[in-house]
Amino acid sequence: MAILKVARMGHPVLRARARPIERIELANPAVQKLIDDMIETMHEYRGAGLAAPQVHEGIRVFVALLEDDLAANRGPAGAAVPLINPEVTPVGDGVVVNWEGCLSIPEVRGRVPRAREIKVRALDRHGQLLDFRIRGFSARVIQHETDHLDGILFLDRMESFETLTYLEEFSKFWASEREE
Ligand code: NI
Repeated sequence: MAILKVARMGHPVLRARARPIERIELANPAVQKLIDDMIETMHEYRGAGLAAPQVHEGIRVFVALLEDDLAANRGPAGAAVPLINPEVTPVGDGVVVNWEGCLSIPEVRGRVPRAREIKVRALDRHGQLLDFRIRGFSARVIQHETDHLDGILFLDRMESFETLTYLEEFSKFWASEREE
C-alpha cells in the first residue's frame, strides 16, 4: 500500500467530471490497489472520505468512513467503504446545515447544506450492487464525495461564505457549537 499525493484546490483534476468504471475493470489489480491506497491515504490525513479525482484519477470511485452497518466487519481496512459509480437521490426535503472540510482544501472549514437522508445506488469493490438509504453524517460524507466525481467542491455548495473559517479559528470560536 502507498500514501498518495492529494490534489489541492486549483488543480484542474478537481474540476473535471470523472468517468464511470466498468465492472470488468474492478478485476484489474491496479484498480484494487488504488482503492487500498486511497483508504490508506484517507486514514493518513484523517479524512472521512477521499474521492479518486483527489488523487489524480478521473474515475467514479470514492472511499468513506460510514457510521452504518455497511461499515461493519470490513476487515483490516477498518470502517472504510469504497463506493463505485455512486448515484445519490435525496429522500424527502430535509436539509441539514453542518460543518465540512476537505483534504483538497486544507485547514479550512465551512457550513454546508446537505440532504438529511439519501438513497444510494453504487457498486462495491467486487462489482456487487449496493442499494441503501443513509442519513446523518454518513449521508453528508457521501454527498461531499459524490460531488468530487462531478468536479464540485464544498465551497460551491455553501449558501454564504460567512462561516468560511480557518481550522485554528474554527477550534477557537466554533468547535463547541452544537450540531443541528
Ligand atoms: Ni473533499
